[in-house]
Amino acid sequence: MTLLNISPSRILGRFFPLPLPPDLSFEGQTVVVTGGTSGLGLATATKFYNLGANVIISCRNIAKGEEVRSKILAQSMNTTSSKATVMLAELDMSTYASCVNFVDGLKQKLDNRAPDVVVLSAGSINPKFELSPEGWEKTIQVNALSTALLGLLLVNWMKADSINRTSLAHLVFVTSRDHLYADVSKWPEIAADDGILHHLSDPKDWPAWWVDDQPNYASSKMMAMYAFDKICKLALDSDEEPLVIVKSVCPGTVKTNIGRGIAAASFVLKIMTPIYLWVLGKTSDHGARHCVNAAIKPKSEHGKFTIAWLTDEQYQKKAIFNRTSANGRKVQALVWKEMMDDFESKIPIFAKKNE
Ligand SMILES: NC(=O)c1ccc[n+]([C@@H]2O[C@H](COP(=O)([O-])OP(=O)(O)OC[C@H]3O[C@@H](n4cnc5c(N)ncnc54)[C@H](OP(=O)(O)O)[C@@H]3O)[C@@H](O)[C@H]2O)c1
Repeated sequence: MTLLNISPSRILGRFFPLPLPPDLSFEGQTVVVTGGTSGLGLATATKFYNLGANVIISCRNIAKGEEVRSKILAQSMNTTSSKATVMLAELDMSTYASCVNFVDGLKQKLDNRAPDVVVLSAGSINPKFELSPEGWEKTIQVNALSTALLGLLLVNWMKADSINRTSLAHLVFVTSRDHLYADVSKWPEIAADDGILHHLSDPKDWPAWWVDDQPNYASSKMMAMYAFDKICKLALDSDEEPLVIVKSVCPGTVKTNIGRGIAAASFVLKIMTPIYLWVLGKTSDHGARHCVNAAIKPKSEHGKFTIAWLTDEQYQKKAIFNRTSANGRKVQALVWKEMMDDFESKIPIFAKKNE
């Protein structure tokens, strides 16, 4: 259980919701939210819908999606527009094929016009070791590889469609401050040896729940941040100006279903997980405000990670080793190369020509 860093600002933060502009409206805009069937994604989708947006949420199975869709329609206080809609799109991030089909499906649904906002919220914590059909440990597959793939496919589409827009679209990655706790110091050696992805997907290194109740979570979120850094660069035009505003956000601790796997891992964690969330967790509605807020940021905020209880200056200091130092940038390049090699070997649209 991550009981470190329980600062007064974190505890107080859960009682004071982030204010959003009172006249905020997304009327007529299309907003895509992955992980929209639960927790933060569901609250974010509901908030956008209540602000007038036509929302598309991803779901792993349509029956659950329909249930959630009815809930959003029934619970919402849609005062902004009676024309707002909620649509579903299937996505199972344990495979690359599903991610590619998801984006292709969006293109069809939207007549190839890119969404105004995308919030990539789907993610998981897996205390039990499991490999994805792609052969990688599931936390790494979902939170890092498939999130990077979706980000890459979406940024290219959103960038290409920017000529049809009068204002910039937003792509928001829901990451976590836990990326700061990933120990990447040995990743250059590991990359040269068996590879970072193989290392993180080796059951021999999987810890018992009492040693680490969230194995690979911090590493997966660090890898997602490395992908985020690359995707931010890809969003720039030839004058280094963003054509899509790409943001990364940590909402702080939110009472959601993310702890379900942890609670199931042992009797001790079943008791501790709700207590931890009770002390630190804000409501999912409060958490969703951070995602909505990221989607209205100006282009000066492009590429920035925002966390509820740290100033940018405080975060930058903490992120030096893993992210912004020469070592951090070296690891970023190694991780991105492994990701791209995997995409190129498994996803037909990425396959290098003449090979
Ligand atoms: N809660 C927190 O305190 C906290 C703090 C910082 C960051 N975050 C991040 O916030 C994001 C949302 O988490 P949450 O707290 O809202 O958890 P949650 O309630 O468990 O929701 C997770 C969502 O992701 C979806 N999902 C999980 N695995 C998937 C897969 N293989 N393919 C497609 N969708 C999948 C789930 O779908 P199903 O409904 O089908 O399970 C669900 O909609 C995550 O990225 C998490 O790391 C959470």
